[in-house]
Amino acid sequence: MHEPRIIVALDFPDGKSALRLAHQLDPQLCRLKIGKELFTATGPQLIEQLMTKGFDVFLDLKFHDIPNTVAKACQVAAHLGVWMVNVHALGGRKMLQAAREAITPGTTKLIAVTLLTSMDQDDLADIGLAGQPAQIVGRMARLAYECELDGVVCSALETTQLRQQFGSEFCLVTPGIRMHDNNADDQRRVTTPQQAIRNGANYLVIGRPITQANDPLLACQQLNSAISGF
Ligand code: C5P
Repeated sequence: MHEPRIIVALDFPDGKSALRLAHQLDPQLCRLKIGKELFTATGPQLIEQLMTKGFDVFLDLKFHDIPNTVAKACQVAAHLGVWMVNVHALGGRKMLQAAREAITPGTTKLIAVTLLTSMDQDDLADIGLAGQPAQIVGRMARLAYECELDGVVCSALETTQLRQQFGSEFCLVTPGIRMHDNNADDQRRVTTPQQAIRNGANYLVIGRPITQANDPLLACQQLNSAISGF
């Protein structure tokens, strides 16, 4: 079987709710993402509990600070044994290099957020960044690539170009995924799992279509079936 390409976003306010969902899922079918809300509530204890159940954990804390601080945080994340951790590419070359040096390649995957999808052209102008969001995404992805990070988080609409530019080894992690019959929730632009994989995504971050489903395991199985041929 293919290694799990679905990463379930555990967007919960407490560990109990996250564990309740994890009990219903299968580590053969998905990995799990812990973000700022859940991590702030539970700390690393939950990571250990989920890893004990056999799940790979993506620690989505988007580190962005001076190089030394980010390097130390990355080191701790790697020691926790998480499968993947991320930083903001906007932290710059020195910060990305420090993060890279802190994590041995081939262990915890180190990826970068290029540009938050919540930022539009006006937001960029406000902080003095010239160019269209798509150009900044391309620039930040190149920076992450040059600093030898393992990949980036990007929208499925950006994957085709990034895959062409950076080749098959660069890891592309894509949120904003919905099946045709799913509610888009607050996502503006959604892509089907098939299309995202076809465009070159390695991993799909999926939250509510699984976490809010009546049967989360079934939803996860259906999403896996949808991409199994690719
Ligand atoms: O519920 P849903 O599938 O929309 O959840 C998507 C997950 O991916 C959430 O954890 C969200 O924060 C994250 N994400 C996103 N868009 C980005 C980056 C991360 O939706 N550009």
